[in-house]
Amino acid sequence: MPRELNEVGVVGLGTMGAGIAEVFARAGLSVTAVDVDDAAVRRGREHVDGSTGRAVSRGRLDPADRDAVLSRIRFTTGMDDLAAAELVVEAVPERRELKTGVLSALDRICPPDTILATNTSSLSVTELAVTTGRPGAVIGMHFFNPAPVMKLVEVVRTVVTEPSVVEDVEALATRLGKVPVVIGDRAGFVANALLFGYLNHAVAMYDSGSAGREDIDTAMRLGCGLPMGPFALLDLIGIDTAVEVLDTMYRQSSDRLHAPSPLLTQLAAAGMLGRKTGRGFYTYAAPHSAEVVPDAQTPAPGGTAEGARPVRSVGVVGSAGCASGTDRLTAAVEAAGLPVTSVIAFLGEPAPPSGPGDAELRLRWTGPLEDLAQADLVLVSADARPEGIGAVFAALGELTRPGTVLVATGRGPVVDLAVASGRPSDVVGLHVAGPDLRLAEVVSSVVTAPEAAATVRALCARLGAHAVACADRAGFVVDALLFPYLNDAVRMIEARYAGADDIDAAMTLGCGYPTGPVALLDEIGLDVALAAQQRLYAESREPGLAPAPLLQQLVTAGHLGRRTGRGFRDHPAR
Ligand code: CAA
Repeated sequence: MPRELNEVGVVGLGTMGAGIAEVFARAGLSVTAVDVDDAAVRRGREHVDGSTGRAVSRGRLDPADRDAVLSRIRFTTGMDDLAAAELVVEAVPERRELKTGVLSALDRICPPDTILATNTSSLSVTELAVTTGRPGAVIGMHFFNPAPVMKLVEVVRTVVTEPSVVEDVEALATRLGKVPVVIGDRAGFVANALLFGYLNHAVAMYDSGSAGREDIDTAMRLGCGLPMGPFALLDLIGIDTAVEVLDTMYRQSSDRLHAPSPLLTQLAAAGMLGRKTGRGFYTYAAPHSAEVVPDAQTPAPGGTAEGARPVRSVGVVGSAGCASGTDRLTAAVEAAGLPVTSVIAFLGEPAPPSGPGDAELRLRWTGPLEDLAQADLVLVSADARPEGIGAVFAALGELTRPGTVLVATGRGPVVDLAVASGRPSDVVGLHVAGPDLRLAEVVSSVVTAPEAAATVRALCARLGAHAVACADRAGFVVDALLFPYLNDAVRMIEARYAGADDIDAAMTLGCGYPTGPVALLDEIGLDVALAAQQRLYAESREPGLAPAPLLQQLVTAGHLGRRTGRGFRDHPAR
């Protein structure tokens, strides 16, 4: 039977500590909330006042209940006031010497059976535990920001944690209305280990100029259904915390992808720590505010449609082998009232070579080519990248009028098709990501004319799709950030650190993702994920992006996910 813990303490009343104190008090526990001086205690109290005040104004909390919640928290600067606590969570800043100092003090002050929990996001719980005289009673209790909202608590057990302590903390987390996931002591635990590689990658993408800050945030919200984009989330978490977490992960993994991106360390050095200081990747109306105000760096999200060429009619070219790639787009263009001319290009057997050099693919068309020649913009299905798609672009380059925008839809690189067309500046990539037409990645190759890209953006606006601008890099924005995260989840399973259910729970309950990574892999198809990851690895040669061997093996075994009835999980036919 787990022990029922009713008298608890929290040390450190920053965003996390104050949030944890609120969670305890809302669940009816008696809380002693401690920080170093009166100013810090006042900020902690204001945080709880603000959060519970918001809950009352939204009708989520009765004013009388709010008073009861507040009365259950005793704010103090005296650590000795924790002498009667049955469990104390330390949530002081993420610096080892600070945390060990607090834990040693608690070790002196609290009775021997008091559980000492750390909310560290990245430090080794084992190393913290052994600095106390009671390592068996030290445990990780990792909450997620905002603590009152996010349902996950990672319960981190070390090799010396007493089983009864794990049981008590698991029961407590459940009583708080949270979902505990019990895991071992590894840098980043489950959620941060999967989250921070992705966040760091997003920063590197922005820093390289491949896509803008707002565009990356929009792409991940609309393309993957995430509650926040990576930069908004980094600002919420705190840039200093992000640097600490990544540093620890890098020290443990030696994976360059975990080395904090220079932009992060510079923002941290400049004190631009995110919402808490009023400025991070974005500028906020005030410290701790969520309201973003435009700053000097704010570009027009998605790029402008300035200079767009008029589009009065649209051609659609499907090619045998990937005829469906443009279906959704075509329907949307028709729904927007634009006349559409459809043709199919058949890529047949190569014609015999007429001289030295390669044989040319024999290209045949069905459909009104003369109408296609008059279109202002032609959407070409290049999704599956059939062999010879370059020949389609070469033919279109000759058939259509100069200035006609040739749009390569799909995931592949744009520049090779641009070159094949003979009119490289008129070729633009377009990738519709996500479950509907809400997000369109508009891809400029190194030779794309700004007006051609602007024409595609203007078309997206007519179709109601939100355009983001990005460079011609493998995976554009969404795939480049999504698939390595999925691959990392496979590596975690492979390393037997956590199972599919715990990983999916961590990301949905800790970070508000609509679907966990393992479930998403089964939905997308393991073969699709493997192919995407191979493209990313081929472009970067980054060892950390190499496809996980387990992913390759499952694909080889034909376990491709829901489509084949079996992937990481079984999917019985309904
Ligand atoms: N404190 C208390 N409650 C809050 C809150 C806060 N700081 N922020 C939002 N809420 C509540 C709101 O009151 C609201 O509650 P009701 O529905 O009961 O009215 C609810 O959350 C939704 O809030 P909003 O409507 O204002 O905003 P939203 O729908 O955009 O949600 C969000 C905001 C919950 C933060 C959401 O964007 C989200 O889930 N983001 C992802 C957060 C995330 O990934 N957290 C994990 C970060 S990693 C970490 O923390 C670990 C680490 O070690 C660094």
